[in-house]
Amino acid sequence: MLKDKDRIFRNLYGFESPGLKAAQKRGAWDATKKFLTKGRDWVIEEVKSSGLRGRGGAGFPTGLKWSFMPKVSDGRPHYLVVNADESEPGTCKDREIMRHDPHLLIEGCLIAGFAMGSNAGYIYIRGEFIRERETLQAAIDEAYDAKLIGKNNKNGWDFDLYLHHGAGAYICGEETALLESLEGKKGQPRLKPPFPANAGLYGAPTTVNNVESIAVVPDILRRGAGWFSGIGRPNNVGTKLFCISGHVNRPCNVEEEMGIPLKELLDRHAGGVRGGWDNLLAVIPGGSSVRCLPSDTCQNLPMDFDSLSAHKSGLGTAAVIVMDKSTDIIRAIARLSYFYKHESCGQCTPCREGTGWMYRVLDRMARGEAEKREIDMLLEVTYQVEGHTICALGDAAAWPVQGLITHFRHVIEERIDQYSANSKPDGAVREPVAAE
Ligand SMILES: Cc1cc2nc3c(=O)[nH]c(=O)nc-3n(C[C@H](O)[C@H](O)[C@H](O)COP(=O)(O)O)c2cc1C
Ligand code: SF4
Repeated sequence: MLKDKDRIFRNLYGFESPGLKAAQKRGAWDATKKFLTKGRDWVIEEVKSSGLRGRGGAGFPTGLKWSFMPKVSDGRPHYLVVNADESEPGTCKDREIMRHDPHLLIEGCLIAGFAMGSNAGYIYIRGEFIRERETLQAAIDEAYDAKLIGKNNKNGWDFDLYLHHGAGAYICGEETALLESLEGKKGQPRLKPPFPANAGLYGAPTTVNNVESIAVVPDILRRGAGWFSGIGRPNNVGTKLFCISGHVNRPCNVEEEMGIPLKELLDRHAGGVRGGWDNLLAVIPGGSSVRCLPSDTCQNLPMDFDSLSAHKSGLGTAAVIVMDKSTDIIRAIARLSYFYKHESCGQCTPCREGTGWMYRVLDRMARGEAEKREIDMLLEVTYQVEGHTICALGDAAAWPVQGLITHFRHVIEERIDQYSANSKPDGAVREPVAAE
């Protein structure tokens, strides 16, 4: 369990003010200038050796990503872009940082901007986050007034920070769709390469990072890379915000150590599973796009990147969605499929057609109105979508269905049996429709 002294987000629950004075009392903006005088290579090396992996979902090492930015400008500006789109179902952690600890994010932006030779940063905030935008903008204004950021600021690195409000589309969280949207275009992912570090915002070198990835950086520098890398286990280190929702007694956000066992996380912070641990059916451990895990794998499950991917799931955004035995798991996953169908931008055929196809079949399966052989057909379609699209929304749509079929095939089969027993007493079976 994370010790209180190791917490980075000391105002996660908003008991204190998000304003500058209170933030400084909690430690924000302390020694920022000193870190910048050590030079950009030092900052990047510290972030690298802290072992920080991106908190936006994929877990890419943050220091390494920063080191891809050109060391010397070829005349084009460099940009830092912060991804505050936070639309992955179940995820609500960046929201709390922006509401209650915005100065850690702003300080992190300055430091990251300095490390990558960027004099301008953009925070792209989710369309629905109206109050969060107001709080964050007020904090940015305070930082300008106090000369912590802006031209000729006290910290010695010119840095302007702009807050850009999205229109509320999940796909705009994908980093290249976000850049398109920021440029005023339709939010559709770009083909890669070129990667943003070569040609990102307005064609200039750009790094896109998640809110939490950036907001933890000042504390990593203040307390030392060794402190951060000492929490958790190798390759899976640091403190982490978990968002716990669903069938627990007290849904919550909590900062914990990476790798905390799932059961301990739920029991200590969320009041346990509704109806007791034995009432657990399944958990989606990292936001809607990762494969669900059945209760028997949950008993001793370290909540970190490597352990969850070894179970063919993922830490993703660390949004833990708990489902007890009252859940209709087919309907639950069908609902997620509907979400991905709705959010597909439609550029690539496997995603545009596949998401709708998967949803419609699952919708029938939830009623039992399907053939058993369609289960394998559905699985095959998920493999045709996965890895065959421009962006990872295709994978995100395929994985929940794969998790369902891997762990709950028997539930689908029972539902089909029930349906045929009820509605077709003569044993006649419905032929599947070829083009759904
Ligand atoms: C469909 C889709 C939606 C995404 N939504 C978000 C999001 O809301 N917030 C986020 O930080 N990353 C999101 N990502 C991941 C970003 O593309 C990118 O990897 C991330 O912002 C990088 O930050 P990090 O390296 O700090 O994790 C999304 C990716 C995909 C494919
Ligand atoms: S995978 Fe889906 S969301 Fe991503 S670019 Fe293709 S159609 Fe758009």
